[in-house]
Amino acid sequence: MKICVVGLGNIGFNLFTYLGQKFSGEVIGVDVNESRVNELRREGHRVTSDYRALTGINVWLMAPSTGNQGQNIFSALEHMIICPGSLISIESTLPPGTMLRIREFLEKRGFKLGTDLFLIHVPHRVMFGVDKTVCDTPRVMGAFTKACLEMGRQFYTPLVPLLVEVSDVRVAELSKVVENVKRYVDVAFAQEIYGYCVAQGMNYDDLRMAVNSKNNVELLGTDWGIGGECLPKDMSFLRMVCYSALLEGAEQADQDYRDRIVKQVGAGKAVLVRGVSYKTGVKDLNHSRGVDLVRALEAAGNTVWVEDPLFSSDELSEAGFNSINVEVNQENEKENQLVDRVILDRQKAFDIK
Ligand SMILES: NC(=O)c1ccc[n+]([C@@H]2O[C@H](COP(=O)([O-])OP(=O)(O)OC[C@H]3O[C@@H](n4cnc5c(N)ncnc54)[C@H](O)[C@@H]3O)[C@@H](O)[C@H]2O)c1
Repeated sequence: MKICVVGLGNIGFNLFTYLGQKFSGEVIGVDVNESRVNELRREGHRVTSDYRALTGINVWLMAPSTGNQGQNIFSALEHMIICPGSLISIESTLPPGTMLRIREFLEKRGFKLGTDLFLIHVPHRVMFGVDKTVCDTPRVMGAFTKACLEMGRQFYTPLVPLLVEVSDVRVAELSKVVENVKRYVDVAFAQEIYGYCVAQGMNYDDLRMAVNSKNNVELLGTDWGIGGECLPKDMSFLRMVCYSALLEGAEQADQDYRDRIVKQVGAGKAVLVRGVSYKTGVKDLNHSRGVDLVRALEAAGNTVWVEDPLFSSDELSEAGFNSINVEVNQENEKENQLVDRVILDRQKAFDIK
């Protein structure tokens, strides 16, 4: 068997290494990012940026970043040399309706699904920081034909703890997006209730403890807002196809939440923001609401310092932040006594010290 993983980012590279252990010598990876490919090559991985080198592939596992309207998936499909009889599994998250467009794309190229080509959608749902491998979580699979489902079943059953098959491929597509949007709405709700508690002088942690004592309820904690790549992106995918006042409200609530933090701080202060990674425990500044908050506080006329246990002072400075460290504290001690100082903690954004 020759397996190719398309897209070697967070998901794709982890998938590539996981499969490499299961199918030794049979897995190759492709990515359009030349520097990423060169870096992986230097580490000894069998990867390429040249689709023309990928011949005789039996299984394509596609995990590129989705791109607006799924354009990265279509760009990859344009370049892939697809052999009759092969299996194509789309693992990236898709805007609802994309599988139908992929089917039309492949049929225009003369492939008949279920006989000479097998297409399935098995969206990824790994929880980094929790799962040990990218295949630890039950997976949903959908396809257009029973024969496609059968091919998918043969490939994935030995790899994942549970394969949840759905007969309508649109359900598989929507399941991934809804999973993330559900979390988005839950976080937005938590932010609203936390804000209410602070306004009323009530302890939000106590409220959570009380509410969560019932086993079918989970009131979430709060952070700087709803960041990361997936939740806001998947919310936008769903909003493109499903009008909902609730979803619109959740997006607005998230923006209002950060606006309220900035308003509470005011202007002309020295502000220390504790924690800027996009998520507690994950060393990544991309799509971070902590970063958005720092920039909004600066725009409001504050001097902002940041600290984050995951980053060194140098790393934070390189990323364009005033990083707090011992020397700075001592040097600026006198100056700091003269200005209003404010400390913001990521889990208690409204409880200003
Ligand atoms: N990161 C997560 O936690 C997570 C979880 C579940 C689902 N997903 C989904 O998985 C997909 C990948 O996410 P990620 O976090 O790995 O993204 P990423 O940005 O880390 O990596 C994507 C990679 O795809 C490559 N790429 C883009 N277009 C390509 C093309 N035409 N051919 C080959 N390579 C191409 C990029 O160069 C990049 O290296 C997305 O659809 C995402 O929504 C991500």
